[in-house]
Amino acid sequence: MRAWILNETKGPSSYELGEVNTPEPATGEVRVRLRTSALNHLDLWTSMGLPAPKSFPHITGADGAGVVDAVGDGVEWVAVGDEVVIDPSIGQGPQTEHIPYGGHLGIVGEHQWGTLAEYIVLPASNVVAKPTTIGWEEAGAYGLVTGTAYRMLNRARLQSGDLLLVVGVGGGVSSAGLSLGIAMGAEVWVTSTKPEKIDRAIELGAAGGFDSTGEFASELKSRTGRAATVILENVGGATWKQSMRVLGVGGRLVTCGSTAGPKVEITIPVLFFKHHEIIGSTMFDREDFKAVTDMVGKGSIPVHVDKVFGFDEFPAALAHLESGAQLGKVVISHD
Ligand SMILES: NC(=O)c1ccc[n+]([C@@H]2O[C@H](COP(=O)([O-])OP(=O)(O)OC[C@H]3O[C@@H](n4cnc5c(N)ncnc54)[C@H](OP(=O)(O)O)[C@@H]3O)[C@@H](O)[C@H]2O)c1
Repeated sequence: MRAWILNETKGPSSYELGEVNTPEPATGEVRVRLRTSALNHLDLWTSMGLPAPKSFPHITGADGAGVVDAVGDGVEWVAVGDEVVIDPSIGQGPQTEHIPYGGHLGIVGEHQWGTLAEYIVLPASNVVAKPTTIGWEEAGAYGLVTGTAYRMLNRARLQSGDLLLVVGVGGGVSSAGLSLGIAMGAEVWVTSTKPEKIDRAIELGAAGGFDSTGEFASELKSRTGRAATVILENVGGATWKQSMRVLGVGGRLVTCGSTAGPKVEITIPVLFFKHHEIIGSTMFDREDFKAVTDMVGKGSIPVHVDKVFGFDEFPAALAHLESGAQLGKVVISHD
């Protein structure tokens, strides 16, 4: 099959279009012929060896949707011809209330071959029926970021009436956080490095927005008279100081990433005097994925598809993601 292959991890230019053997489903597995996939920042990290794949050749890509074209023994609830969406969490441990799979979590495209290929083989429990109400582009796009943002907001106990600040709204996780925050009844404010993305976020229902590189803590307080009760972060070093400054008493900052810097400073007395909670969150479990699939299928949350590229245009799609020009998901059409 054709696939975008990594044989080394020297950065995004390491990807090459090549041929590998089409995988066969083993017991309990299904093979999906992909119609669409979508990029995540993970595809950039993996190409830089952060983390390095266990073996080469490696195929990245966590998100995708397509049609089941073969099933292994023992698969009874999925059949050839089913239209499905891929759940990118690979569970390797027991479920616990707060930590998916007890922390023994894998990701499609990181811990096994991913969706930047004609076919993917994965456990049958990793596919759900594609909602009939959405197209292939949306189906291939919402998975990883919406599941991640959903779990983050639930971990932060977001309630109707909360003031939610979404940092770096152009990103996949953050744009999903915007939609989910609005659907959950929060007053959502955003930050971005690009004024046009703030305008777009306001069209989508945000109350307003600020420059991510500016003094957004004082700006939010002067415009709303309030501090943030919940902050969805994944930018990290570049925005952390302002985010912590705008978090109110009893506020929760939930983070899943550190795109712009993994090291930050914490002023401990501020943390305890303000009763702050800093919450780490990674991925999600099957129940979360079913919940977001249901919400997407019912139209309760929009899927933000920024741009669609052809399969052979993957390098341009990756460059688009790396440039930060997108609001939402960069999708690959496999047709
Ligand atoms: N732990 C998990 O389970 C998990 C799951 C998904 C993602 N992640 C992590 O979360 C992060 C976001 O992932 P993604 O796929 O949503 O990324 P993405 O689509 O590439 O978005 C990144 C966004 O971050 C903002 N940003 C980047 N550098 C910045 C800087 N120097 N200053 C201010 N803002 C900056 C930009 O927002 P604007 O364009 O609005 O300025 C950019 O669009 C990544 O680090 C990823 O590895 C973790």
